[in-house]
Amino acid sequence: MDWGLKNRLSRIIKPDTGRTVMLAVDHGYFLGPTTGLEEPGKTVEPLLPYADTLMLTRGVLRNCVDPETDIPIVLRVSGGTSVLKDDLSNEGITVSIRDAIRLNVSGVALSIFVGAPNERETLQSMADLIDDAEEFGIPVLAVTAVGKDMVRDARYLALCCRIAAEMGAHFVKTYYCDDFERVVSTCPVPVVIAGGKKIPENDALQLAHNAVKRGAVGVDMGRNIFQSDCPVGMIKAVRAIVHENIPVEEGYKIYESEKANNVKTAVA
Ligand code: 5RP
Repeated sequence: MDWGLKNRLSRIIKPDTGRTVMLAVDHGYFLGPTTGLEEPGKTVEPLLPYADTLMLTRGVLRNCVDPETDIPIVLRVSGGTSVLKDDLSNEGITVSIRDAIRLNVSGVALSIFVGAPNERETLQSMADLIDDAEEFGIPVLAVTAVGKDMVRDARYLALCCRIAAEMGAHFVKTYYCDDFERVVSTCPVPVVIAGGKKIPENDALQLAHNAVKRGAVGVDMGRNIFQSDCPVGMIKAVRAIVHENIPVEEGYKIYESEKANNVKTAVA
């Protein structure tokens, strides 16, 4: 791995803990103005101090994030379909590597759809993106198992992650599942987990805790942070779990205390 690529990757996965809290706000690329991201700039701004990396699209980056913000960017560079279509796998590369460089990103991300109708096309897109990105020392994040019909068990997720790594992805994003150790131990590159659909705060913290305990280097979490009734409390709690290995109960207290502060400030 060359110096530039390693350096960029170390901006995303922090060398002092070997972990990362990535804040995912790229959902609009196929979901439009999804709940919590109607005005992405307003959602993201208070969360930035607690995120190690921001994952988003170029449109939101250009229009809603201050260019003087000091946060590493992982840019989603795949898309081309919408939630209105049955087959979400019909994606291609939507951003050139030149534009990614112009935007000074630390990494690029695309989805791969193993087992879906466009499996081959998305895997080929990943291989092409890796070739382009490696030329400029930019790490590639492969996002696996997006889609409502995917059975997200260890066998399937290990297959997706391993294929991504075999083809050269530098890190992989997947879902947490039972027997998650198998997914991580058979994937030779770092694994981060998506949060998935909004679930109760305590369950989302448990998910983050289980994932890092079982070998994930962190989270790339979206809805369970920005759709929470206290997004700052949630990201602070997730951060402490990921970087400090605190128990879930302590994480939940961080969330509750931030929420209580917000109520006090609103009443005052
Ligand atoms: C969508 C994505 C999202 O970034 C991903 O799903 C993470 O967000 P969440 O925690 O809300 O699942 O890659 O394709």
